[in-house]
Amino acid sequence: MCGIIGYTGRSESLPVLIDGLKALEYRGYDSAGVAAAADGGLVVVKKKGRVAELEKAVAPRGFFSRCGIGHTRWATHGEPSDENSHPHCGGSGRITVVHNGIIENYLALKRELADGGVKFRSETDTEVIAHLVQKYYEGDIHKAVTAALGRLRGSYAVAALCADFSDTVIAASYHSPLIVGLSSDGTYLASDTSALCDRADVLYRMSDGETAILRPTGAEFYLDGKPVVKKAIERSWQYGGAGLGGAESFMLKEINEIPRALKKTADYYDGGFFDSERAAKTFAGVRKIFITGCGTAYHAGMTGRALIERIARIPAETDLASEFRYRKPLLRRDSLCLFISQSGETADTLAVARLSAGAGVRTACITNVPGSALAALCDFTIPTLAGAEIAVASTKAYNCQLLALYRLAFHLAYMRKRLSKSFYKENLSVLSRIPSAASAITENAYRDILPLAEKYKNGRDIYFLGRGLDYYTALEGSLKVKEISYIHCEAFAAGELKHGALALIERGTPVIALLTQGELKEKTLNSLAEAKARGAEIIGVGKTEYIADAGVFDGRLTLPDTPDLFAPLVSVIPAQLLAYYTARARGCDADKPRNLAKSVTVE
Ligand code: F6R
Repeated sequence: MCGIIGYTGRSESLPVLIDGLKALEYRGYDSAGVAAAADGGLVVVKKKGRVAELEKAVAPRGFFSRCGIGHTRWATHGEPSDENSHPHCGGSGRITVVHNGIIENYLALKRELADGGVKFRSETDTEVIAHLVQKYYEGDIHKAVTAALGRLRGSYAVAALCADFSDTVIAASYHSPLIVGLSSDGTYLASDTSALCDRADVLYRMSDGETAILRPTGAEFYLDGKPVVKKAIERSWQYGGAGLGGAESFMLKEINEIPRALKKTADYYDGGFFDSERAAKTFAGVRKIFITGCGTAYHAGMTGRALIERIARIPAETDLASEFRYRKPLLRRDSLCLFISQSGETADTLAVARLSAGAGVRTACITNVPGSALAALCDFTIPTLAGAEIAVASTKAYNCQLLALYRLAFHLAYMRKRLSKSFYKENLSVLSRIPSAASAITENAYRDILPLAEKYKNGRDIYFLGRGLDYYTALEGSLKVKEISYIHCEAFAAGELKHGALALIERGTPVIALLTQGELKEKTLNSLAEAKARGAEIIGVGKTEYIADAGVFDGRLTLPDTPDLFAPLVSVIPAQLLAYYTARARGCDADKPRNLAKSVTVE
């Protein structure tokens, strides 16, 4: 979704801003813009479309500046257009702002400002902020921004520039992430650490309600008008390697990185991660676990619930964060709320984390960004070491989230003495073999999966089917296919087929059937026989022995021999690859699917 970049320092600001916007492109956007302090005024350039278009539009303007702000916009209020792109200016043209988030009371504010004679140029909620800052400006831009923010309801990360202070950027954050970075070259601002990692030496995450004054030599932070001393966020190890490195797309590169990501994550946990005092404090005496996440992270949470109940015998529930936050859940002191989020930025997941912390419940998260807002909110963070995930569709982070959930389930079982030390170790040793099983799939993908993608690329529907742990994998597989190939795709619990979905099966309808659970195999085969009898074309994904039945399967994707309990860690990979190759065969941009953003930072 929207991205913010800002810079003030010794270098020319424009290349820094454009580079920063390019680093934020993966989040998804439909327009981009920059504003720079130059020649005693402001230069504002904004364009619908890609950052590359903006770059072309800026080049002929021929100005020099050492201070500016930039933005990538993902349309919420008003269509993607030059006018609706950020930055937005106050009436004088000497104050400009960019904004991530949503201002809930913008219509009331807009009416009030319009009644006072303000002329609006866009349909955005952000323009209201620019005019409010203008209204309160009496020579102190930090004061004016603070006063304007006091009028807003909703969430925001804001960067503001005023021509009267040509080396100063004002920043403010409330329920929307903003990072300040320092280096000998200047002071940086971004909504995402990945845009700063190569430039800044020290990073600070702005907390809710904070404002900051950025100057070339550093930054001052304020909360409720008083200076705040900030603690730098830990530089995580994951930000490198975010380039394509010769791969044809980020998504394919990231799927191929699954074995390495799993190994790196497992090695990290092997270093005694779960034995820390903090872990012990977080998990001791927990009687119920509430897991929440969105999209792919929610699917990991569904598998996690099954693992925690089955292995650790602790009751667990998994909910979509967007539903949980309005469910009025019965949280108790001995509950643990566990959040799963690749980015650690997802608005709904963050809202549930705030709600849980407010209720005095213990909180933990599984995230790929240890310096994220989610990690900052939680008592305990279980990091995944998947490395930067750039493609919009989450892949390697999902496999690592699952690994974290397996390790957590085994750890809880061991803590509760439901698992002897030797069994505990035995299970960890099975987990350590998963990366090579994952490699066996990624290495043969082209041969096995490409022909299927070619075959189904023009189909109307694809269905995934599974039972038990396979059902959750089916849900994730179907999300991958629909979001990047735009083919209608759904997942069904195999046992539910004849309660409705069977009506959808016609001659030739592709059904991808997951069979990795021996104890449920016969039951799934029965459901498949019913689909087959109605003309379904069935592709079995499972161990050789589970998909041997010649009467049922029209095609097979054989998985490496992995104990049934651990199958979800690898059985999703063929689905991830099928989604990718189908999207490619249809000419879709798998890295940037239409209408979607990488980080969903608004509700
Ligand atoms: C799907 C996908 C999304 C995310 C969801 C949550 O491929 O990537 O469904 O999983 O938006 O994002 P995070 O994990 O960053 O909270």
